[in-house]
Formats: sequence, C-alpha cells, structure tokens
Amino acid sequence: MTAPLQNDLFLRALLRQPTPRTPLWMMRQAGRYLPEYRATRAKAGSFLKLCMNPELACEVTLQPLDRYRLDAAILFSDILTVPHAMNVGLEFEAGEGPKIARPVRTAADIDKLPVPDPEGELRYVMDAVRLIRRELRGRVPLIGFAGSPWTVGTYMVEGGGSKNFQHIKGMLYGAPRELHRLLDVITRATLAYLNAQVAAGAQAVMVFDTWGGALTPADYREFSLRYMKRIVDGVTRESEGRRVPVILFTKGGGQWLADMADTGCDALGVDWTTDLADARRAVQDRVALQGNLDPSALYAPPAEIRAQVARVLESYGKGHGHVFNLGHGIHPDVPPEHALAMVEAVHELSPQYHG
Ligand code: CP3
Repeated sequence: MTAPLQNDLFLRALLRQPTPRTPLWMMRQAGRYLPEYRATRAKAGSFLKLCMNPELACEVTLQPLDRYRLDAAILFSDILTVPHAMNVGLEFEAGEGPKIARPVRTAADIDKLPVPDPEGELRYVMDAVRLIRRELRGRVPLIGFAGSPWTVGTYMVEGGGSKNFQHIKGMLYGAPRELHRLLDVITRATLAYLNAQVAAGAQAVMVFDTWGGALTPADYREFSLRYMKRIVDGVTRESEGRRVPVILFTKGGGQWLADMADTGCDALGVDWTTDLADARRAVQDRVALQGNLDPSALYAPPAEIRAQVARVLESYGKGHGHVFNLGHGIHPDVPPEHALAMVEAVHELSPQYHG
C-alpha cells in the first residue's frame, strides 16, 4: 500500500485549486550545487551510472527534500535516457555535456530506431520511480518527466548540445518529412515512457522543451508544439484516484503560452524573460503557471533574493494556480544557503496572496 499524500499543495496548485500558500520546487533541485549530490555521484562513478542505479538515484532525489521545505520531488534522471535506449550511443564527458556517438542524420538512421520497452531497456527508471515513491512515504508528490520530442531530437541529430542547430535545421528545411518521421518515433517512445512512469507511481508529469525557443513561430507549432500536444493527449491523466497534471515548459516560449495552453495541458512552465502577470493574461487563467525566478538571482545576497522572490509573487498576484520555481535549472555554483533563502522567502511571503 502506498502511504496517503501528506502535502498535496503542488498537485492542487497545478489544478488551480485553493492552497494556503504558494507551493514550490526547483528545477535541477538534485544537482551539483549540493555537496551531498557530488558525493553520491562520485560513489556511482559517473552521472549516467548514477541515473542507472535506482538506489542511488533515489538517494539524490531525496537529498534536496531533506535540506529544504520543498513541495515536490522530481525523479532523478535525464531526458536523454530515451535516446540512450534507442541505441544512439550516449555518453556524458565530465564538464562537456552529452555526446551521442551515432547521430541520426539520414532516412536509414531513422528506420533503425526502436521504440524502447519502458519496462525493458528503461526498467532502471521505473525501478527508481517505484523506490522513490516507497521512500517518500507520502511526504510530497513525485514528478516524472521527459524531454519534448523536438528537444530530444536536437540532441539525437546534432550529436550533442548545439548553438546553431546546423544538422536538425538542415533537416527541418531540407527534409521535413524525414524530421517528422523522427519526431513521430520519439513521440511514441516518450508516451510509452511517461505512461510507464505514471504506472510506476509518478503523480505529475513535466515535458521539458529546452530548445523550442530556437524555432520560428510557424516551425514551433509544426515541429515542437504538435508533438507535445500528442503527448498531452496520450498521457495517462488519472492514477490512484487522482488527476495526474501535465506541465509543458518551452524555454524561450513566452510568446506562445496561449497556444501551449490550447493543448489541454494543466500547467505551463515560464522562464524569467516573461513577466508572470503577462503570462497569466495570455492564458486567461485556463492553466496554472510555474516559475519564474531568474536562476542567476540566486547569486545575489540572501536579502536581495528575498526581494526578488517578492517580485515574482507580486507579478503573479493574488489567487491560486501558481507554483513557484526558478525559470530554468539551478546553476551548479550557487551556494546552497542561497537556495534556502529563496525557499524560506516563498514560505513567508506567499500566504498573503491566498485566502
Ligand atoms: O530537475 C531535477 O532535479 C531532475 C533531474 C534532471 C536532470 N536533467 C539531471 C541532470 C532533469 C529534469 C534533467 C532534464 C534535462 N537534461 C534537460 C531539460 C531541462 C533543462 O535543463 O533544460 C536537458 C536539456 C538535459 C540534457 C542534459 N543533461 C545536459 C545538456 C546536461 C549537461 C549540462 C549540464 O548541466 O551539465 C545534462 C546533465 C545533467 N542532467 C546533470 C544533472 C544533475 C549534471 C550532470 C552531472 O552531475 O555532472
């Protein structure tokens, strides 16, 4: 039997239900800024080995919750587990980010891609989800996640991180039907993967579209949003007698929030380049909003961090449907006490916006 959920503020806020304060979590909350994370990663041997070891992945998932009063846990994993299981040869070189040994560039490369069985090649992720749920004992809900098909596709085609997206944009403009075939197979793999996470115990699901903002508005709709909508339509929306909210996050997607809300998702992540008041007007309170403190604000001294938290809360304004977060992942060189200042400020300052 799974323990009853003791703190459901995060799930309630995602569904725009009343809460006594604004719930919060941090993107990349289990990460290199925490010394205990670096110690566990060293024990695992590498980042990828850490992701593939359910006991250690569970350990690092819980680390930020032991330090801070956060309202959600996020599965410790990576968006690139899916291409890894599609046999493209993923490696993480220390300090260099992801590298893909066999980038997908031709129709023949696309033909070879399997849709991995989530309880087969990706079983280590599902085992981590099951173990985390057990160890959480209902303290807070667990977020499952995946990359958007477009974002995962950029890594698969470019072979790693990219500035100009030379290869995938070459495909987009030169062979759009092939790119659609690639995005289709990634979408099918991602849906199976997310639905397995929900079956294993994920209580909300977030789709990270880190590179959607590199597209023109028309291409964003055709090559990123369209596939995220398929995910929203296909993901399991109820489990254990509760709704499983879906959050979409396109970094740099501030101008498309209304279109994103049209997908039928429950909530949108917003980066720090869009004011939450404008975002809220754009979506007309149809979806909840998650964000959006500039991650670099955590370099400031604690008193200034508190002032910046106040600005974000004020920008969303009174009413429900806000999940406080950073506008992107926490930087690895942020002092852990600065993250604490942010968390405490949200607890202290947010009740006045509810009620
Ligand atoms: O939020 C969390 O705490 C959950 C864990 C999580 C990680 N990656 C762990 C990680 C999540 C949700 C991700 C998603 C992810 N991974 C995205 C989308 C979100 C975003 O940040 O835009 C992307 C683009 C990736 C791909 C990826 N993983 C890159 C480009 C890198 C290297 C860059 C970097 O930050 O070093 C990673 C590695 C990675 N994923 C780390 C962590 C904690 C750092 C690896 C390490 O410990 O050395």
